Amino acid sequence: MEKINHIRLSEDDNALIILDQTQLPNREEYLELKTPEEMYRAIKRLEVRGAPAIGIFAGLAMYVLARGFSHLPYPDFRAKFNETADYLNSSRPTAVNLSWALRRVKRVVDDSSALSPADILPLLKNEAQAILEEDVAMCRAISEHGLSLLKDGDGVLTHCNAGPIATSRYGTGLGPLILGAERGMYLRAYSDETRPLLQGARLTSWELMRAGVDVTLICDNMASAVMKEGLVQFCFVGCDRVAANGDTANKIGTSGVAILAKHYGIPFYVLGPSSTIDLSAKTGEDIKIELRDPDEIRSLWYAEPMAPEGVKCYNPAFDVTDHSLITGIITEKGIVTPPYTHNLAAIFE
Ligand code: MRU
Repeated sequence: MEKINHIRLSEDDNALIILDQTQLPNREEYLELKTPEEMYRAIKRLEVRGAPAIGIFAGLAMYVLARGFSHLPYPDFRAKFNETADYLNSSRPTAVNLSWALRRVKRVVDDSSALSPADILPLLKNEAQAILEEDVAMCRAISEHGLSLLKDGDGVLTHCNAGPIATSRYGTGLGPLILGAERGMYLRAYSDETRPLLQGARLTSWELMRAGVDVTLICDNMASAVMKEGLVQFCFVGCDRVAANGDTANKIGTSGVAILAKHYGIPFYVLGPSSTIDLSAKTGEDIKIELRDPDEIRSLWYAEPMAPEGVKCYNPAFDVTDHSLITGIITEKGIVTPPYTHNLAAIFE
């Protein structure tokens, strides 16, 4: 599959260039982002989205922004750096990769008090690029582990988008399908359209078609029928934050898919890099769920509103799938099975 350079530095390092995911699949447009406000907005509006991609974006964004105030003396530089990182971190609360990546670049600044800010810049660039390169390797390993479960002809149901544009390359939930296609395997994907922002319809089906995977788009409320008809043998989804006990926050609707999968006896796997595991969250109760604009339900995508004016809406962007519904959590280190509290902690030892 042709590789998309969806998050990259400009030639002069003064801007971040991203593929605008809100325009897909109709337009492949790139945005040039220079200010903290533009970068905050890009995360908030889902111009860049997907937990690992947001982390990669944040690391590179902080390098670009730090160039703009590297003339300051170290204490002021550090204060401005932390303030800007905290501002970006406030854009979306659920995916842990954002705060994880920002913590990594903050640490570079904290550990460099003996250097001038101008000399810290190359270190920040290295750290941001390391976050990106590590994600490439992690996605590749996750894809291999996931693919080891599949055989030719299998059907996999997925929810939201956990593909290359949500990460660095290959993706997590979609990685095994894309890697399998590269190796000439025949795999069938069923993509939930994923209301209200349609990541499954707009992004997953677009990415899988480009990768040569046989993909069928379904409405979210068709997942049960697809399972009952025996069309899928596995569910593979990504994750935004995995708590210490295995409870997993992912796109709204994921927990419903897991409940259906349990009913039909279909294995349900969560795929994500270890950077998405947050051992400081003991259970899903500790994960903050983002609430979004009701107009995403009422009127976005429609030529005219499809709900009465002023109707109340509840629009959580994510839900938490209980660990008891998860067959396994696939990270770059392998396939973790229950008991999660013990086995997730073990991968960090
Ligand atoms: O709101 P989004 O589109 O950022 O939500 C994305 C998801 O829920 C993905 O499944 C998750 O971030 C994993 S991406 C590899």
